Amino acid sequence: MQAHYSKTRNLARMGKYVLVGLSLMLICRWILYKEGMLYTTDAALIIKEVGNRYVKNGTNYDHLPEDFIFLVNPKNKCSSNSTTQGTSFLVGVESLVLNFEQRAAVRQTWANNDLLNRLSARVIFLIGINEDAQLQKRLNRESAEYDDLVQGSFVEHFKNLTLKTIMFLRWSQCFCSTVKYAIKTDDDVLVNLRMILQVIKSNPTSGLYLGYTRAQFHVIRNPNNPYYTSYEAYPEQNYPVYASGPLYILSQDVATRAYDYISSHPTGYISSEDAFIGVIMSKLNVSVHPYTNIEINRGSSNLGCFFTEYIAVHRVAPNEMLKFWPVYETKFVTKNKQLIV
Ligand SMILES: *[C@@H]1O[C@H](CO)[C@@H](O)[C@H](O)[C@H]1NC(C)=O
Ligand SMILES: *[C@@H]1O[C@H](CO)[C@@H](O)[C@H](O)[C@H]1NC(C)=O
Ligand SMILES: *[C@@H]1O[C@H](CO)[C@@H](O)[C@H](O)[C@H]1NC(C)=O
Ligand SMILES: *[C@@H]1O[C@H](CO)[C@@H](O)[C@H](O)[C@H]1NC(C)=O
Repeated sequence: MQAHYSKTRNLARMGKYVLVGLSLMLICRWILYKEGMLYTTDAALIIKEVGNRYVKNGTNYDHLPEDFIFLVNPKNKCSSNSTTQGTSFLVGVESLVLNFEQRAAVRQTWANNDLLNRLSARVIFLIGINEDAQLQKRLNRESAEYDDLVQGSFVEHFKNLTLKTIMFLRWSQCFCSTVKYAIKTDDDVLVNLRMILQVIKSNPTSGLYLGYTRAQFHVIRNPNNPYYTSYEAYPEQNYPVYASGPLYILSQDVATRAYDYISSHPTGYISSEDAFIGVIMSKLNVSVHPYTNIEINRGSSNLGCFFTEYIAVHRVAPNEMLKFWPVYETKFVTKNKQLIV
């Protein structure tokens, strides 16, 4: 009797420990989740989706790491039954984990939600990994708030910039394939989406690769130069004519063909992302549609002198964007305070 009694008590005590243990585990998990230390996206599902679609014969040539995953991935950016159904263009803004201020300025100015909705445009920021865990926490909070970050599992480095563009092409194919145009830009560029819509309307809807052209650009062979490209990666003396990096526009068919080509053919890695895309386009026989009103090097000139005629101005600091934008927007406010597109 006594033995039976103490056995029951032991069991009850053990049960208590198990319960306390479980509760502690749950609390820890919750804290980790709140602190952004657990990834909130379903990475396994994404790997499955990406893997099934793009790994060909066990080889994917797209230069992204073999175990590449999207660490942070917006949930509702392009879902087909939301208001994004008619999304006409997707803008990929290359950024760095560290550039919190730049992203905030972009969201408050040219990529504000109101304007994006009017134009059926979507903006995502393309980032890699910064090995500072504190920054990752902050980044996860930013993602939870804005749901517009696409983070790939590769380390951020100047030489890895091209990976961001490749990731953009992969992401848009996997998660935003109904989009009609993919536009690549950077977080220090002031973009004129209204004018881009005009440009798009006056150009062919397919076969489009539009941007500020770079011609006869010598391939740099000095290994100490950050723009160095090896002979193995690209043997010609000059790059083909290509669209300069601060902003270029691809119609959906061109973006798809480019990614399909990159993922199914071994290509030399060129760390200038714009030159790399140019090389791919030349393989696809797609030539650049030259567009001159993109200011790629404005020096100290006043923003107001450019912006009304240009689709993009490069090298704009966050505080400049924030100062300029409200003044610029007043041009588009009618008497009854309605914004016009
Ligand atoms: C797959 O790759 C192997 C060599 O890696 C090759 O022998 C084989 O023919 C390829 N199969 C297909 C279907 O391309
Ligand atoms: C999709 O449509 C269903 C049914 O109309 C709705 O319940 C759901 O909330 C929608 N999802 C999104 C993301 O809009
Ligand atoms: C580029 O990313 C890969 C994958 O994370 C990393 O191994 C490599 O070190 C990065 N390159 C540079 C130059 O940092
Ligand atoms: C590009 O043009 C060349 C020469 O006309 C042709 O051999 C090649 O197959 C074309 N490539 C594509 C991808 O259309």
